[in-house]
Amino acid sequence: MSGTTSQLQIDGKTVDMAIKTGSIGPSVIDIGKLYAQTGMFTFDPGFTSTASCESQITYIDGDEGVLLYRGYPIEQLAEHGDFLETCFLLLEGQLPTASQKADFDYRVTRHTMVHEQMARFFQGFRRDAHPMAVMVGSIGALSAFYHDSTDISDPHQRMIASMRMIAKVPTLAAMAYKYTVGQPFVYPLNSLDYTSNFLRMCFAVPAEEYKVNPVLSRALDRIFILHADHEQNASTSTVRLAGSSGANPFACIAAGAACLWGPAHGGANEAALKMLEEIGSVENIPKYIAKAKDKNDPFRLMGFGHRVYKNYDPRAKIMQKTTHEVLNELGIKDDPLLDVAIELERIALSDPYFIEKKLYPNIDFYSGITLKAMGFPTSMFTVLFTLARTVGWIAQWKEMIEDPSQRIGRPRQLYTGAPAREYTPIGRR
Ligand code: SDX
Repeated sequence: MSGTTSQLQIDGKTVDMAIKTGSIGPSVIDIGKLYAQTGMFTFDPGFTSTASCESQITYIDGDEGVLLYRGYPIEQLAEHGDFLETCFLLLEGQLPTASQKADFDYRVTRHTMVHEQMARFFQGFRRDAHPMAVMVGSIGALSAFYHDSTDISDPHQRMIASMRMIAKVPTLAAMAYKYTVGQPFVYPLNSLDYTSNFLRMCFAVPAEEYKVNPVLSRALDRIFILHADHEQNASTSTVRLAGSSGANPFACIAAGAACLWGPAHGGANEAALKMLEEIGSVENIPKYIAKAKDKNDPFRLMGFGHRVYKNYDPRAKIMQKTTHEVLNELGIKDDPLLDVAIELERIALSDPYFIEKKLYPNIDFYSGITLKAMGFPTSMFTVLFTLARTVGWIAQWKEMIEDPSQRIGRPRQLYTGAPAREYTPIGRR
C-alpha cells in the first residue's frame, strides 16, 4: 500500500521517506534507508511507535476497543463460531465453507496424538515443575520427534507442522497438567470436538466415565477464540524474530510460549488471580488501589492496562460475560473473588489515576476466575493461553515465511558503553 512522503531535516540535509498507508489504521513512515542516508538509527526501545512488519491477519484499534481477525469482529466470531473455525480463518484468511470446515476438523482431530516416546520425555521433569516450564520444553521437543515437518522452505511441511502444533499442543497441555497432579495421561478421543477432547484429557480418570459439560466446553472454546491472536504482541514478535533466522516452526512456537509466560504478558492471568486472592475481600481494595498508584511501590493491578488498548479490551467484556455463564452453570452463586474483581474494576474505573492513564481491565482480568471455577489450577492459566495463541503464532510465522521480502530481523542499538581502550594485564589493574 502506498501514500505520500515525509521529510526529515538532519544537519541541514533533507531525507525523504515514503509514507505507506494500510487498509485501515495508522500509516507508517518507511525508515528502511535512514541509516544509509544519515548514519543514524531510530530509537524506540519498547516499540511504542514502531511497526515491525506488514500483516493482514489481526487489526486492533486501541482507542475504540476494536479487535478484528481477518476483518471479522471478535464479538461475532466468539458468538457464532468455534475455535477451529477461527484457526482456519487466521491461517487461510477466509471463513471456511462447510466442507472446508469438516475437512479441517477431521485433519486436526487426527493429529492430536503425540509420539509415545514423549510420555517418557515428561518423566524427566520434576512433578512440581510449573506446567509452563513443561510446555516450553515439550513444544520445543516436538522438533526432535517430527523431523519430517521442519523444512520451512517446503510449503507441505509448513502445513503439516502447523496442523501438528494446533492439534498436539492441547494434548501436551493436558499431559503437563496430568503430570503435575500425578494422574495418568489420557489419550485423545477422535469422537469429541477439539475443546471437549481437551477437557476430557485434563479431567478424565481411568477409574470412571467422564462426561463433558457442553456449557463449559462451549465457554472454554470461546475463551480460546478470544486468545487466538493479537497483532504484534511480545510473544508474536518473538516468534517472528525466531522464525526470521530460519529456525524450525516448533522451536519458534516454543520461543513464543517462553515469552508469553512473563507476568507482564500472558502470565498476567495467573498473576491477576493471585492478586485477587491476596486482596481477599472488598474491604481491602482501597489499600491495593493506593499501592498500584504509589510510584515507589512496584505493585501493579494485574489484568489492568494494555500497551494498545486505551479503552476497554473487547475481549475482557466477552470474558466477563463468560465468567457469569460458567459460574451460573456450576451453581456458584457468590464467588468472593468475582465480588472483589467487580468492585475493584468499579473503583479503578472511577479513579482519576486509572482514567488519566487509560487503564482498563484486559483479557487477563476475568479469565482466571473462570478457569479456576472450571477446575484448572492457577499454574495452568498461561498454559491455556499458550494453547489458544499457538494458532496466532503459527499464522503470523507463516505470513512472515511466505513474504518474499522477508529477511532476518536484526535491530541495532544506541551504544553508551566504554569507548575502545587498551587491555591492562592483571598485575597492573
Ligand atoms: C497481555 O500486547 C498484547 O496484545 C498482549 C495481550 C495479547 O493478547 O497478546 O493483550 C495479552 O499481555 C495483556 C496485558 C497483561 N498484563 C497485565 O495485565 C500486567 C499489568 N499491566 C501492565 O504491567 C501494563 O499495563 C502493560 C505491561 C500491559 C502495558 O505496559 P506499557 O504499555 O509499557 O505501559 P507502562 O508500563 O509504561 O505504564 C504506563 C503508565 C505507568 O505510569 P507512569 O510511569 O506513566 O506514571 O501506567 C501505569 C504505569 O505505572 N500502569 C499501571 C498499570 N499498568 C500501567 N499502574 C497500575 N497498574 C497497572 N496494571
